[in-house]
This record gives sequence, structure tokens and C-alpha cells, in this order.
Amino acid sequence: MKGLLLYCRPGFESDCAAEIQDQAALLDCFGFVKTQSQSGYVYFECYDPSHAEILIKQLNFFRLVFARQMIAVSELVSGMDVNDRITPILAAAQSLPLGGDVWVETPEGDETKPLLTFCRKFTVPLRAALRKANKITAKEQGRKPRYHLCFLDNKTAYLGYSITYNSSPFYMGIARLKFPNAAPSRSTLKLDEAIQLFIPKEEQETRLAPGMKAVDLGACPGGWTYQLVRRGMFVAAVDNGQIAQSLMDTGQVKYYADDGFKFQPFIRNLTWLTGKNEQGKKVKYPEHTHVHWLVCDMIEKPHRVAKLMADWLEQAYCREAIFNLKLPMKRRYYAVKECLDMMTQRLGEDAFDYQVKHLYHDREEVTVHIRWKAFNK
Ligand SMILES: C[S@@+](CC[C@H](N)C(=O)[O-])C[C@H]1O[C@@H](n2cnc3c(N)ncnc32)[C@H](O)[C@@H]1O
Repeated sequence: MKGLLLYCRPGFESDCAAEIQDQAALLDCFGFVKTQSQSGYVYFECYDPSHAEILIKQLNFFRLVFARQMIAVSELVSGMDVNDRITPILAAAQSLPLGGDVWVETPEGDETKPLLTFCRKFTVPLRAALRKANKITAKEQGRKPRYHLCFLDNKTAYLGYSITYNSSPFYMGIARLKFPNAAPSRSTLKLDEAIQLFIPKEEQETRLAPGMKAVDLGACPGGWTYQLVRRGMFVAAVDNGQIAQSLMDTGQVKYYADDGFKFQPFIRNLTWLTGKNEQGKKVKYPEHTHVHWLVCDMIEKPHRVAKLMADWLEQAYCREAIFNLKLPMKRRYYAVKECLDMMTQRLGEDAFDYQVKHLYHDREEVTVHIRWKAFNK
């Protein structure tokens, strides 16, 4: 493997590039970035080719902010004969580990859009050829690396693989979700995407369960509240704006015309316990929290929101939180990093799990998920 291919939202290539250089350097893996504005991808070539395998395993995909997908790349297959692309691809696939499946993709962008139909059509013959060559197998497919062939034009494609548990489960790294007609705003798709990406499918029903209590700060008109209500939860919706009547009619929403920075949930007495985390480190954790979920989509300065979220988590007001941090115009990666560094310094890495992503449905914001580890079981 030679490097990493990262998909990102077109226009965010420099942020994705700054992030991969910074994060790879923290693992003592150095290289250089090849990128083009509006291309929808960043290629990071490692000076030491063995480092690509280290990075694909050790970089936590769910903490890379701007990468929508992370692929270890063997090579750029170029000058392909349009009548026989399979032969050079099979030759390039020799250096890949045994895989489970293949996705034929293209980075998101106006220039590559016309390639999408071809990508879908080419998948079937390529999958058959890779199976015949014993490079991919349907046996225990979900546990094996997933091949990605990413076309830049009709003769040029990056070939590589992602690790299924450390990559996006979505084709092209894009969660294509159907807008629910009953939702009061399109923002609803942001929270839905965050849930689909950050919470394993098999845990969603227990971690977002009927009867649970949630607080939505900056709730109006109610797209995020809608996602919680449709999962049977009871929501305190905090905002000075107008909440959708359809949500109030469910009887599951209590509306507070309040400032999200001052609102406090109903406080119960908490018992704090001491235990050990997965690494055997001593940690203090609450026996329960006041509410199960905090979500927050207030348009506010990111460091103010980050501080508020840290306050809620630290005082065990909630056990899990999903919130947005608005991005500045410049140096977006460093602005997000500052907020996350502040939160991890305050909360520590032992008691909390963190995830962050510039989601497909996000524009000038990123979405963060933080959770008390004590409630992992
Ligand atoms: C992007 S909108 C939220 C959209 C909502 N998540 C949805 O899905 O419909 C931001 C909201 O934050 C609210 N807001 C901004 N600052 C606030 C504050 N300090 N306290 C409460 N709400 C606030 C605004 O009134 C606005 O309704």
C-alpha cells in the first residue's frame, strides 16, 4: 500500500489535507498530500509505504472530522483500455489482502457525476472477476476488507481497501436518507445521519429507546426533536422560536421558551461510583444521569457550545450527547481541533467516547457525539 485516499465534501479538501497530515504525524507516519480544490478527495502518500497499513488501522475513522471515507491505496491505475479495464485492475489487486466485496465509486463532484452510472454498471463484472481470481469472497464478507475502485475519469482509478469496522458504511461515504414528510425541517436529516453513523445499527433500539428522556437545545422548528419523538422518547424542547404543533400534539414534547445556555434539566440526586475502564484504569462515573440524551443545534460560537456540552456531560446531566459545532470561514480543522482538545482535556479520555464528523447533510458545521463509557453495556 502506498497511501490513503480520503473522500470529503467538495470545497473542504484543504481542511481534510491539514487534518490527515496532522493526525498521521501523531502516529509518526509522514508523507505528502496531493489534492485539488473542489475535487472531493485528498490523497496522502506515505514516505514509507508500510505506514499506509498502520494508518488505516490506527487512525480512528470516526474521529477524523473531514474524511467521509478512508481507503488504503495500492496504486493509481491509469491509461486503462476502455475495452478491457478488468486486466490492469486484477493485476493491481494482487497486492491487496483477501477482500469481502468491492465498491466502484467516484469522488463527489460535478466533474465526476457523469461517471456514476458507469461505476454502478461496472461493479457486477468487476465483482465476478475478483471472485474468480480469488481476491474477494462472500464468506464472512462483513469482516473482510472492502475493496474500493475510485474512478477519477474513465481511464484512471485508485484501487485500495477499507476496513469495515473503521470506515463509513455508506457507498461513497454518503448517507442518502429519505426526508420524512412529517418532519418540520430538513435539519432532521443531520441528526438521523449522525445516529446512523455513530451508533451501531444493532444498538440503536436500546440506546434510543421508547420512554427515554431527552433535551433538545435550539430545537425549533423541531427537526431534531422529531427524530427523538419518532423513536418514542420524551423531549424537553428549548428555544425561543416556534415549535411545530404536530410535535406538541404527540404529547411527548414539553416546550421551554428559554435560553439554552441557562436551561437545566430536572435534577435528581446522583450517586457517583468508582470502577475500571477497558484499560483497567480507575474511573469515577455516575450511577445514572438526569436525562439520557442531550442534542444541540444552536447557532452559536463553537467554543461556547463545546463548553456547555462539557458542562452537561461532566455533571452527568446526560449520558450521551450529539451536537453541532459551527465552522469558521478559515482554518476550519484547527478551530474544530481546539474545541475537541478543550473537551477531551476537561472530560478525559478514560470515561468518555468521542466521535466527530463533517456529515453529508452538514454544511458549515460538524457533528460531535460524546458518551459516558460507563453505559456501554
Ligand atoms: C439551526 S436552528 C435548529 C434547527 C432544529 N435543530 C431543527 O431540526 O429544526 C437553530 C435554533 O437555535 C436557536 N437558538 C439559538 N441560540 C439559542 C439559545 N441561546 N437558546 C435557545 N435556542 C437558541 C434558534 O432560535 C434556532 O431556532
